[in-house]
Amino acid sequence: MIGVKDRSTNAANVIDIAGVGNVAEVYDSVAEGIIARYYPRGGLAGNVLRRHGALVAEAALAIARRVSGPDPDRSFIRFIREAALLHDIGIFRTSAPEIGCTGSHPYVCHGYLGRKILEERGLPAHALVCERHVGAGLTAGDIRVMSLPVPIRDMLPQTLEEEIVCFADCFFSKTPPPGGTRHSPEDVIAMLEAYGSEKAERFRRWLDRFGPPP
Ligand SMILES: [Fe+2]
Repeated sequence: MIGVKDRSTNAANVIDIAGVGNVAEVYDSVAEGIIARYYPRGGLAGNVLRRHGALVAEAALAIARRVSGPDPDRSFIRFIREAALLHDIGIFRTSAPEIGCTGSHPYVCHGYLGRKILEERGLPAHALVCERHVGAGLTAGDIRVMSLPVPIRDMLPQTLEEEIVCFADCFFSKTPPPGGTRHSPEDVIAMLEAYGSEKAERFRRWLDRFGPPP
């Protein structure tokens, strides 16, 4: 892990987490060591994954600091950063040519496919963040009703870490590549309403609890 000083002006908050706003500083050698196995540098999919992961990590870290108060738990912060950078590791196994992914699975599968990858790499907790972030969380009922091509089981964020990464991810689309799009809370709610009012309600509860990312 790269130890980078927080840019906060409050000295009491100085910890070794990445400064926000600089993709290079947000990067993390643990996460990049895994990403580089599947995403060659310079390829479209890798550029999209790294950029999107860094944006989600910046937002998630800001929320993590907000909920942690002046003395954040270092392992909590470290996990949030790694999990945010890795949460979409499964996209290369899906078919999404507009972002350089040429796999055979439908895109919605990237969460559980990412889980498999990270479990194989010995990161079971990070793996659950992958599986549980898709669509602001899916229930087994959602999967049945929408006939989604994923294993039928609850895939809802359960831990605070899983909730923060999933919430932060809602604000960032990967298209148009490579930078993607940032959405307002109102945009996110409108998008989620299309898939069910419970999803939008879950997001609203997170918004009340965490506040929008800076
Ligand atoms: Fe994502």
